[in-house]
Amino acid sequence: MLNRPRRNRKNDAIRSMIEETVLRPSNLIYPLFLSNTNIEKEPISSLPDVYRLNMDGILKEIEESIEAGIKTFILFPVIPESFKDKTGSYSYQDDNFYLQGIRKIKEHFPGVVLMSDVALDPYSTDGHDGIVRNGEILNDETLPILSKMAVAQAQAGIDIIGPSDMMDGRVRTIREALDVHQYEHVSIMSYTAKYASAFYGPFRDALDSAPKAGDKKTYQMNPANKNEALREAELDEAEGADFLMVKPALAYLDVIHLLKENSYLPIAAYNVSGEYAMLKAACANGWLEYEKAMPEMLLSMKRAGADSILTYFAKDYAQLYKKLL
Ligand code: PBG
Repeated sequence: MLNRPRRNRKNDAIRSMIEETVLRPSNLIYPLFLSNTNIEKEPISSLPDVYRLNMDGILKEIEESIEAGIKTFILFPVIPESFKDKTGSYSYQDDNFYLQGIRKIKEHFPGVVLMSDVALDPYSTDGHDGIVRNGEILNDETLPILSKMAVAQAQAGIDIIGPSDMMDGRVRTIREALDVHQYEHVSIMSYTAKYASAFYGPFRDALDSAPKAGDKKTYQMNPANKNEALREAELDEAEGADFLMVKPALAYLDVIHLLKENSYLPIAAYNVSGEYAMLKAACANGWLEYEKAMPEMLLSMKRAGADSILTYFAKDYAQLYKKLL
């Protein structure tokens, strides 16, 4: 036998000498849910160990995460039903607790990078990402609202705008609005290939943002398709996106790889709520070992081509990484 691949695996030093993929805590983006209640940490039953945090809770969680090596956060608002309307107008009101929260976080931690979510669903009585009329999700009518939301977020101090709505033309509209308001330094991470996935369920529980009627299939992508991902990537690049994102991640590793091979832009992957919940449930049952299965899951996304990963595991991964150093 001339070739024995096992020679390259014979001990830990050799294995780590030729290790191809490294995932650092600074590659991770940590999603946080901000509420305006007086409950510091409110559990979410379908997302174990993830909480709806009020301002005090968020500041503590960010402090602990920075300590562990996390530098970037994405913030989602838990909007009370009474603030919701058909057009999501609360999203750009100046006294909005989400925008105030952004200001406060930047005051306390000027060094962190903060990403936002731009879409109507958390603010909308219909629970859709765009305006709904007669059961139809309106594209062009939604764009000006997305722009207002993005400009308000930039004004509050957001570093990266995250349009997650999948309306056509939103990246360009948002880019132009930001530039007109002299926020040309504010980045856009576009949810480029966002699929109409069953894996967003726990997130919608967290924000109580599930669609009241119908589904999101007229704007989010068909899980069967790859060519559309390339088309969306081409458009987002042309419209001025700084990063392209694939979402979900674990069930779409091929799409992450495809975009990585076809773009010079950094690729992000969103390890979504259902993927997190699935692993946590298996570990809670003793069927999988958390400290091994969790890093392996995240590593697969990096290996597929993701430069950065949005994940609810971020803080745990960073703490584990520190422990193993
Ligand atoms: C809102 C949005 C969703 C997620 C991120 N932004 C839900 C959806 O599109 O219905 C899902 C994230 C997750 O499941 O972790 N547009």
